[in-house]
Amino acid sequence: MNLEENKRIKAAITAVGGYVPETILSNQDLEKMVDTNDAWITSRTGIKERRILKDNQKATSYLAIKAAENLLSKNAIDPTSLDLLIVATVTPDMPVAATAAYVASEIGATNAFAFDLNAACSGFLYGMSICASYIRSGQYKRILLIGADKMSSIVDYTDRTTCIIFGDGGGAVLFEPSPNEFGWEDEYLRSDGTERMSLSIKAGGSLYPTTQNTLDSGWHNIHQEGKVVFKFAVSEMANVAEKILVRNHLKGSDIDYLVPHQANKRIVDATAQRLNLSEEKVLMNISHYGNTTAATLPLLLNDFESKFTPGDKLIFAAFGGGFTWGAAYLTWAYKN
Ligand code: UT7
Repeated sequence: MNLEENKRIKAAITAVGGYVPETILSNQDLEKMVDTNDAWITSRTGIKERRILKDNQKATSYLAIKAAENLLSKNAIDPTSLDLLIVATVTPDMPVAATAAYVASEIGATNAFAFDLNAACSGFLYGMSICASYIRSGQYKRILLIGADKMSSIVDYTDRTTCIIFGDGGGAVLFEPSPNEFGWEDEYLRSDGTERMSLSIKAGGSLYPTTQNTLDSGWHNIHQEGKVVFKFAVSEMANVAEKILVRNHLKGSDIDYLVPHQANKRIVDATAQRLNLSEEKVLMNISHYGNTTAATLPLLLNDFESKFTPGDKLIFAAFGGGFTWGAAYLTWAYKN
């Protein structure tokens, strides 16, 4: 393939799928577990309930496989036609042995190579950038990108500052060369490691290998300095999204949908306000799923897929641990 032909390839999302476990953990349930209440959680976060994968024999791979199978069966896609499978996650089945490799084998993607991607709540956004670049290069033609997290496996359910936020789920999208002129248009991805401790699991890595002390100190659970993260997230998510709009000569009124990471309704509202977007353009499902980390963006696409029509202008924005954040602009390529 020569360079001129390559230039004409545009990457598009051509299918979506999703899965959330059946068990619901409501604000009322949490009231019985920690010192909190429905009014506080609803007003501070917008969350009413989240889904939990109760079965402790099942891990993130289960959520990822379910989401992938949902996509494949809905669209009658042969898994052997996949070239690459990526799982964005912060809760891999195991620290070593990529979850993606197992997922690929389980769904029958026998011709794909597979790897995990850890960029916390921005994992799926970064993953879309990788998929778009591979497709645009002409090197691969069918890439399955999954965002999946079993957050309940790392949450301390005695810590009211984190246990109210997170939920479990998985979502998947297929990237292919666009069948028309629509697809991946632009991206602006950022990171800053200076605040990495503000949203982290401290131990279990090479910095603090597992010891009795790390276990006793609760360093294997997710820890968040909520206020610090909120301050960064609320300004930076809006900044990057605004940058994407400005450099693509778009106004709020040109945008059809904002697809924002579901961390906190107040952060999403602030981003929408900065972009001058009316409420019906802002996709939200935080009230019933909470923050599913790498799964929020594909779960939004899955929940709202029937609304999208070819040419719709979607703006993605995410912020997460690391810190990692960014925004992207995609034109929707198909009608379901
Ligand atoms: O997805 C990755 C990125 N993550 C984010 O973007 C999350 C960013 N942070 C947040 O969403 C918010 O900071 C939280 C939802 C985590 C917390 O909301 P907040 O409005 O920042 O609350 P706060 O931490 O400032 O706490 C306010 C008060 C405190 O009491 P005092 O010190 O004012 O007496 C907390 O102890 O609320 C108290 N509090 C609670 N009260 C009832 C904290 N958690 C709870 C709770 N229920 N669950």
